[in-house]
Amino acid sequence: MKLRFPLTALAFLLAAQFPVTGFAAGGKKLEVFSWWTSGGEAAALDALFQAYRKADPGVEIINATVAGGGGSAARPVLQARLAGGNPPDTWQSHPGWELLGQYVAANYCEPITDIYQSEGWDKVVPKGLIDLMTKDGQTYAVLVGVHRGNVLWYNKKVLQKNGINVGDKVTFDEFFAAAEKLKSAGVTPLAVGDSGIWASSQLFENTLLGTVGPQGWTALFNGKMAWDDPKVKQAAETYGKMLGYQNSDHSALTWDQAVKAVMEGRCAFTSMGDWAYGEFAKAKLKDNEDFGWVAHPGTDAAFIIVADGFTLAKGAPHRDECVAWLKTCGSKDAQEAFNPLKGSIPTRTDADKSKFGPYHNWSMTAFGSAQLVPSVVHGEAAPAAFQQALNDAITTFVVDKNANNLTQALVQAAKESETAQ
Ligand code: GAL
Repeated sequence: MKLRFPLTALAFLLAAQFPVTGFAAGGKKLEVFSWWTSGGEAAALDALFQAYRKADPGVEIINATVAGGGGSAARPVLQARLAGGNPPDTWQSHPGWELLGQYVAANYCEPITDIYQSEGWDKVVPKGLIDLMTKDGQTYAVLVGVHRGNVLWYNKKVLQKNGINVGDKVTFDEFFAAAEKLKSAGVTPLAVGDSGIWASSQLFENTLLGTVGPQGWTALFNGKMAWDDPKVKQAAETYGKMLGYQNSDHSALTWDQAVKAVMEGRCAFTSMGDWAYGEFAKAKLKDNEDFGWVAHPGTDAAFIIVADGFTLAKGAPHRDECVAWLKTCGSKDAQEAFNPLKGSIPTRTDADKSKFGPYHNWSMTAFGSAQLVPSVVHGEAAPAAFQQALNDAITTFVVDKNANNLTQALVQAAKESETAQ
């Protein structure tokens, strides 16, 4: 398995520019690396910091963020630091391939299995999630929350004004009927902010799941369904049709600016993981009043997991502080403070549901009943090289709209990641 991220001089430069929060009372420090810089993300991260400060006061937190949704700008910076022997104490990572293939295999992480035992996490975190972070009996990260990747968000008032009703699930046909109606009323149906291409890849990922279903998803990633299967081509065509309804300035916007376009009624829908919720919450908009949501067309029976974890660096400069940080991340209090702001749900099954509003309760119910599938766009389902190849193929598709080229690129990428493993 190859890592494709370039170790550029720019990456080192960015790494040197981290903002610092808090005061160093006794000279104790903790460096936390993430890409949580949008309004909702930063507010939620701050809630984690506050919980940590309660547990371990007087530590200077170095908030090492690198802006760019989905972490596409942060990961190369992190990779440069890890390769250069200058790790942050802890960094944000998705479970599955990203954690195990990029960081654990390269020996950058210290196992935290003993913390799972001492904190009793093995009893309150679903085994399926722990397994995604475990290799040879050792567990390497603690999750703070689980996002649902396949959510279609909408501006309630815009839909009402245009006589569009969204039920508890939608089909692609229903989505396109609504999109036509909106378009003829002069409203841009779909907001996309793909200045980071991953956001458009996510629209494809959600549409692919809605077309092949959760069984098909598993088959694609275990090699039982080919990436040029007619259903994948059909998904590409449906995705292409959706792009016909997107905002013309999509490539100039970030994912959260696309959410803002929905908030402000410039666009009606956006398909985005539920970190979008964090933006609505930050803007003080109300669940089911100002904005609504439904699973992306065709995906109501499935839940794309996009989980966020934190690691313990091998050779962490501030190991004790980092262990305390990880304990905070896995605690009930921190998860109940962080997730309402972030849009994700706690990984702990003992979290108090009454502390969460309608959106979160919807997501928690789905997490318990839908089929859980990993995300390729967020590094869980496939090696980094395949994730990168998908982004490249989507960059091309946005321009040429050629379903055959897209599926051929994916066939090739799947072959290459098999031989590279
Ligand atoms: C994902 C991450 C989320 C959210 C999103 C947009 O990769 O898991 O927490 O931050 O990117 O930046």
